[in-house]
Amino acid sequence: MAQKREKFGGQMAVILAMAGSAIGLGNIWRFPYMVGEHGGAAFVIVYVLATLLISLPVFLAEVMIGRRSHTNARDAFARLSRHHPFWKGAGYLTILIPTLIACYYSVIGGWSVEYFVKSCGLAFVNTTPEAASGLFGTFVSSTWTPVIMHLVFLGATVLVVAGGVKAGIEKFSKITLPVLFVLILLILCYSVSLPGAGEGVRYLLHPDWSELTPRTFAYAMGQSFYSLSLGMGAIITYGSYVSKKENILATSTGTAVSDLLFAILAGFAIMPAVFAAGIEPGAGPGLIFQSIPYVFAKMGVTLPLVSSVVSIVFFLAIIVAAMTSCISLVEVGVSFLMERAGMSRGRACLILYVICGVFGVLCSLSFGPLSGVKILGMSIFDLFDWVCSNILLLLMALLVVVFVGFILPRRVVHDEFTNRGTLPFNDRIFPLVWFLLRYVAPVAIVVIFLTNFIL
Ligand code: PFF
Repeated sequence: MAQKREKFGGQMAVILAMAGSAIGLGNIWRFPYMVGEHGGAAFVIVYVLATLLISLPVFLAEVMIGRRSHTNARDAFARLSRHHPFWKGAGYLTILIPTLIACYYSVIGGWSVEYFVKSCGLAFVNTTPEAASGLFGTFVSSTWTPVIMHLVFLGATVLVVAGGVKAGIEKFSKITLPVLFVLILLILCYSVSLPGAGEGVRYLLHPDWSELTPRTFAYAMGQSFYSLSLGMGAIITYGSYVSKKENILATSTGTAVSDLLFAILAGFAIMPAVFAAGIEPGAGPGLIFQSIPYVFAKMGVTLPLVSSVVSIVFFLAIIVAAMTSCISLVEVGVSFLMERAGMSRGRACLILYVICGVFGVLCSLSFGPLSGVKILGMSIFDLFDWVCSNILLLLMALLVVVFVGFILPRRVVHDEFTNRGTLPFNDRIFPLVWFLLRYVAPVAIVVIFLTNFIL
């Protein structure tokens, strides 16, 4: 318990690590298909507003809890509530949720490893839409390869976490995040230069307001929470490594803007290519794994080498993005085991590898040999995703805003937000942030929750 806690080394390091957590499969895999399903630009506009007005204040709240308590996510609630039994219990959720997510998140991480390997082996060169979707179906429903790829992906993730906060997490994000932006820009340039890509660009720029239903608002907010890694203990944990000197408004806004920018870049990288290949934009979760190989194959008819290289770069980008996010999920449990159970970092990493490995294997097998196992009518994988994204994430986010808005004294929140009154700009906008946190965010979270269930 008395170990010295590590810290991130400066503002840029904080932004890169937090953006590493935020930018992930949610941006490259989920955001484009949601835009495709929910009215293109109309969804993007709602998404941007939701991020700035609701998610950003919640993000700030999580960073404040972490930095103020200077401990792991479970103990943060206990410490700041002076060991109130309710909040002590609630704190356990912050360890449970990211660990559950890491189980299935690393399964999709494993898929990207497999697709990267396949691209290197030029497996998509002459594929057709039917072949690409057949290949995806055969792969995910097989027993061994997805399981092995999941374990490889998780192993690599855990190894970075084992390196520690500074030498592992911070260093990895510092190198990979800028590379990731360059990779996605390269793909974007290629994608918008394709014949027929203009249609995709137009789709992203022209709002179809008729698609805007209450459900769309709920999805946009849910997606924004997920994308910023909220309600999962990850930002609380990273916040606990932020020094008292940092301006958390600057680091949080930097992270939210990078995440937004990346999601939009990913939209412009993927949608034009999807339109150029004549694929349905609302193809759903399989969009990148089923359509993108065909997109590259189609383009490859004229330029096989270029399209193969772009496809390798694309799946590499997904691996990197997924890893920096999965790292933040695993770190939540690791910091808890280190501080609560006095374990070494290595041992805590090993335990998380085993837990997430075993449950991840079950999630992976639920596409194949265990596809007959249904709980509440859902496969194991879908159950994990549904419980985490639609229930636990929102519940935790609500607990966070109630905790900061109503349990912590206003003075404490003000101190954290303004570094004890030394940041004049933060001081000026504090009333707005306080209002958004206390009144707007809780109502919005409850509305998303009800919309998910009722509509
Ligand atoms: N924000 C990540 C993404 O957009 O892919 C997913 C994620 C990572 C969620 C870490 C939660 C978390 F704690």
